[in-house]
Amino acid sequence: MQLAQKIVELEQALAIADTDGKRVGFIPTMGALHKGHLSLVKKAQDQGLFIVVSVFVNPRQFGEGDDLENYPRTLGVDARVLSDAGVDVLFAPSSNEVYPASGVKEISAGELGALFEGTVRPGHFDGMLTVVNRLFNLVQPDVAFFGSKDAQQLMLVTQMVRQQVANGDREPIKVVACETVRDEEGLALSSRNQRIPKDLIPAARTLHKALIAGSKKKTKADCIEAAMAQLDPIIRLDYLELVDPDTFAVTEGVAGARMVIAGWVGEVRLIDNLLVGGV
Ligand code: PAJ
Repeated sequence: MQLAQKIVELEQALAIADTDGKRVGFIPTMGALHKGHLSLVKKAQDQGLFIVVSVFVNPRQFGEGDDLENYPRTLGVDARVLSDAGVDVLFAPSSNEVYPASGVKEISAGELGALFEGTVRPGHFDGMLTVVNRLFNLVQPDVAFFGSKDAQQLMLVTQMVRQQVANGDREPIKVVACETVRDEEGLALSSRNQRIPKDLIPAARTLHKALIAGSKKKTKADCIEAAMAQLDPIIRLDYLELVDPDTFAVTEGVAGARMVIAGWVGEVRLIDNLLVGGV
């Protein structure tokens, strides 16, 4: 595996992929890698792609109370894990490389970016789309892999690419949705899980239990009621809703809907989601 910290190094590595006639698969991350991230790598490998993974803790998607400084940074371990997994290039740029003084296009997530995660994290999705767009421009992937755990992020990236391709602003990128990887009792893997106190882990797991119970019902009211019945009362709920996965508009019907949940377990905020009728 090649480690590229400068854009020129990335370009050199990509030139090799070009010569070999391989299609490029891209997995953007913020590091502190776990099995969820690695499942995206595996999916890219299954497609025989030249695999680029980026590790960049994007300051622009952190809000004031979001604790950018304390985000886990484990580049040495991440590099070893990715190398063992057979990744071709690890792109781990500095902020100066990603955000030079000029020339980086700001992307707005618009109204969709102000819903759900956007209500509690203003500006988060603008920063996320801005860095994903920038990284797409640098890596020029044919295929990009995103986790369904961050369903709103996945939807916004998919819409951004669709719009850019329709406008003739970029070559098509296939955005692949990857299933959420969970622990043995259903808790969606996340770098934040390390911060959940041990005695609160069972409560954290009730988020998924709530989604399973809620996703089996036939009316919205029953879905919400069944989910609430599973949720540990210690969890401070931000939202529990049924949405259209393509627009994140709240739906009253259950067919094809995604149940989305966000809540606090102690000081840690967790999100999860599940397709209704999909279990
Ligand atoms: P990060 O939180 O590091 O996640 C990187 C990718 O891994 C995302 O596509 C995310 O949905 C996926 N992922 C995380 N946990 C997962 C799990 N348990 N199962 C499956 N996939 C999982 O998301 C970001 O970084 C950033 O916003 C980024 C896209 C890199 C832009 O900065």
